[in-house]
Amino acid sequence: MALVTTKEMFKKSMEEHFAIGAFNVNNMEIIQGIVDAAAEEKSPVILQCSSSALKYARIPYLRKMIEAALEEHDIPIALHLDHGPDFETCKLCVDNGFTSVMFDGSKYDFEENIRLTKEVVDYAHAHGVVVEAELGKLAGVEDDVNVSENDAMYTDPIQAKEFVERTGCDSLAIAIGTSHGAYKFKGEPRLRFDILAKVKELIPNTPIVLHGASTVIPELVEMCNKYGGNIPGAKGVPDEILHEASLKGVSKINVDTDLRLAMTAEIRKIFAEDPSVFDPRKYLGVARDQIKATVQHKIRDVFGSSNKA
Ligand code: G3H
Ligand code: 13P
Ligand code: ZN
Repeated sequence: MALVTTKEMFKKSMEEHFAIGAFNVNNMEIIQGIVDAAAEEKSPVILQCSSSALKYARIPYLRKMIEAALEEHDIPIALHLDHGPDFETCKLCVDNGFTSVMFDGSKYDFEENIRLTKEVVDYAHAHGVVVEAELGKLAGVEDDVNVSENDAMYTDPIQAKEFVERTGCDSLAIAIGTSHGAYKFKGEPRLRFDILAKVKELIPNTPIVLHGASTVIPELVEMCNKYGGNIPGAKGVPDEILHEASLKGVSKINVDTDLRLAMTAEIRKIFAEDPSVFDPRKYLGVARDQIKATVQHKIRDVFGSSNKA
C-alpha cells in the first residue's frame, strides 16, 4: 500500500469514535516497533517527524525506511511533519512525499497564526497534502496559575471555529490541559473535556488532535529510575482519560515521550544487568520490542483503532 493522507482514517475515526495514534519517529528501531504493532492490530497509523527528527535522521533515510515499512505491511500509514515551525519546513516535507504536515503557529497571535497557516494550506492542498494547525497554548497547567490566566492558555472554541473556516486547515490541535514531555501535571491529571465538547459542537467535521498525550507509563519511569535514570515525579495522561478523549471526538493522539521512555528503560536495564553487552543489536533489539509492546497496548486498549485498517 502507498502512503495515505489522514483524510480517510480521520473520517472513520469520527464516524466510529476511536482515535489514531501518531507516533514520533527518529530511527529504524522506532519505526519498526510502531509499524509491527500497528500491523498486528490491523490499525491505521501516523508516523510523524519533528523538524529535529528531520535533522537527526535526515529526510532520505526516513523516507526509505518508511517505504520499507509500506512494503512489509498492508495497513494505512500516513507520514506527517510534527510541529512544522515555518512555511519552508512544511514545503520541504510536501516536496519530499509527506502526506500530511502540521504548521504550528500557536506562538503567534490569532491573525498572524491564520495568515501563516493559510499560506501552508494553500501550498499543501495544491499538492494533495493535508494540514494540521494549532490554536491555543500547550504550556502545561501550573497549580499556582489563577483561573483567568489558566483559561487564556486553553483553546477558545469560538475562535477555533473561525480559525478553521478562515484557514481551511484539515485538522486542529487544541489545548485542553496536556503538555509535552514527562512532567504534565503537578496535581491530579485532568483534561478540559468541556472545551473539547464545545469545539466538537461548533466544528463537528474537523478532526481534533491532542498533543502532549503520553501516559508517561509509570512502569517505564520506574524501570528507568531503577537502572540508574533520574526522572523523579514524572506524570502523564492516564490511559482512562485518553480512552475517554478517543470516545469524545479526539481523532489523533500524539505520543513521543512514552517511546523515549520505552527505549531508554530497556537499554538501561540491559546495560545494568549485563555490562558485557556491547553488540548494539542486543540493546536496540529489546528497545524495539518494548516500543512495539507499548504501541500495541495503546492501539488496542486505549485508542480503539484495532481492526480499523
Ligand atoms: O512535540 C514534540 C515532539 O516530542 C518532538 O520532539 O523536537 O525533540 O524531536 P523533538
Ligand atoms: P508527548 O511529549 O506527551 O509524548 O507528546 C508528543 C507530541 O505531542 C508530539 O507532537
Ligand atoms: Zn506536539
